[in-house]
Amino acid sequence: MCGIVGYIGNKKATPILIQGLTRLEYRGYDSAGIAVIEKDKIEVKKDKGRVSNLYNLDGIDDLKGTCGIAHTRWATHGKPSKENSHPHMDNDNLFAVVHNGIIENYNELRNELTEKGYHFLSQTDTEVIPNLINYYYKQDKENDTLKVLRAVRNACTELKGSFALEIICIKEPENMIVVRKDSPLVIGKGNGENYIASDIPAILSYTKDFYFLNDYEFAYLSKNNVKFYDTELNEIKKNTKSIEWDSKGAEKGGFEHFMLKEIYEQPRAIRETIGTRLNSSKVSFEELGFTKEYLETINKIYIVACGTAMHAGIVSKNIFEKLCKIPVEVDIASEFRYRDPLIDEKTLTIFISQSGETADTIAALKLAKEKKAKTIAISNVIGSSITREADYSIYTHAGPEIAVASTKAYTSQVTILTLIAIYCAEILEKADLAKIETLKKDLLSLPAKVDEILKDTSAIKKFAKRVYKEKDMFFLGRGVDYAVSLEGSLKLKEISYIHSEGYASGELKHGPIALIDTGVTVVATITDEALVEKSISNIQEVITRGAKVLVITNQNLENKGFETVINIPKISTEISPILSIIPLQLLAYYISKEKGLDVDKPRNLAKSVTVE
Ligand code: G6P
Repeated sequence: MCGIVGYIGNKKATPILIQGLTRLEYRGYDSAGIAVIEKDKIEVKKDKGRVSNLYNLDGIDDLKGTCGIAHTRWATHGKPSKENSHPHMDNDNLFAVVHNGIIENYNELRNELTEKGYHFLSQTDTEVIPNLINYYYKQDKENDTLKVLRAVRNACTELKGSFALEIICIKEPENMIVVRKDSPLVIGKGNGENYIASDIPAILSYTKDFYFLNDYEFAYLSKNNVKFYDTELNEIKKNTKSIEWDSKGAEKGGFEHFMLKEIYEQPRAIRETIGTRLNSSKVSFEELGFTKEYLETINKIYIVACGTAMHAGIVSKNIFEKLCKIPVEVDIASEFRYRDPLIDEKTLTIFISQSGETADTIAALKLAKEKKAKTIAISNVIGSSITREADYSIYTHAGPEIAVASTKAYTSQVTILTLIAIYCAEILEKADLAKIETLKKDLLSLPAKVDEILKDTSAIKKFAKRVYKEKDMFFLGRGVDYAVSLEGSLKLKEISYIHSEGYASGELKHGPIALIDTGVTVVATITDEALVEKSISNIQEVITRGAKVLVITNQNLENKGFETVINIPKISTEISPILSIIPLQLLAYYISKEKGLDVDKPRNLAKSVTVE
């Protein structure tokens, strides 16, 4: 989705802006542009295509300004083109604006502005914003220091939808204004300079100190200062938060792709997500502070998320129900938010989002709060929107995840959810203590076991070479293996564009088996000892019908007649998905690579989906 970068300081803004945009390329985009305040005018350079094209635009090297805004656009209103690229300016070229999000009432605003004499050069929803600001600016007869800010504020009160905005004005060449509503934006504090980004990794190499804006808070920046205002334009105080992420996390570090690097970072991500939570005799989540009395009032747990994060929820349903004896529903955020879910103060709701910025997940969380349910946000990004909305926030420590296809965030999410389940179970005292002890021991053994899988990937590479030209694949499993099959299938379709389905092995007979024919590939995961025999029968059924089969297992399946078996280390069934997903991630990766596709930036997908 769209990305935003901004700079105000003493250095030439252009290289910083373009470098920041390059770091945001992984979010997906189709056009790029910058606007810099030069001596007596705002210079805009933009075009469709890659960020690197900006370097070739006429006059870009001549820009000397030290205050500028930048954007990568992912087309919503109007096709990718130079005219539709951001930044956009008003009719008098006083203001330049970049915008992430969608202005839902842009048609009405455009008509109103047209009646007032404004004209438009693009088909975007964004172009109404600089003109609306221009309108309010010209209406204002005062000439005080807040005049530009007031115009921006007045314009924003008319906007419906979501927005993160950066605004520069030729009348105030030493300032910049930013504001957000339901779209991410952070301010990085430097020394005599300030940075803006829609995503922390874009500016992580410049600063680790960040200000986080809430909805409808306005930041008024100069190189040495950031002032914050509410909608009444009363000044408000804010402190920076420090981000521990290493800027190297946002670089490839010798790996061919971010995805491969992130797959290999999983032992560390899991270890850091467990952190010190398992060092005490009981699992600790001081930030939750749940009591037995409170947990005994809970009659349902809802886990809500999108994409891979939702799959992490499906894996953990099993462990919550087993250990806490509370029914768990896992829901897709975009469904949950519109179906009037049956929740109240006796429901515990958990929202998972790597980025913490997924629009549907945030909206689902807001709904749960309205219905008085307790809300926990699980995110990988400190200060992300979801963490500021939730009653409690818990972080995974996967470090920046850049590849669109999520890997280390997923395994970290399953890890943290397992820890939360154990934490609640220990308070509730309903679970078998020996079981809990085994799980804790197994959690600590995870990093070494993931390493073991990653040591030899030759069998997966070989299988990828064999099947990369296929058109259809099925991922099968029972119980937690079914949950991991859903994620394995999603990984494959995301980055290889091969049609695939994750299916419960036992359900195959009720329809999909009709599709199994010579040449179809089936990837089966078998880690639940109790279900081994049943799973084997299901696989035999597809082999009989001509499928090529890959089996991922921690059981002894020698002599069962399977052609390719990948053995993974044994571990408690409840957390086996953290291991069994690794070969599936690698399979998707090697197939995508074999096909020569853009592994890290698959077509049509965005790393974080900040619009509905
Ligand atoms: C997008 C990404 C997926 C991700 C999903 C949820 O679809 O491409 O990889 O799983 O959003 O993202 P979140 O940041 O909320 O976990």
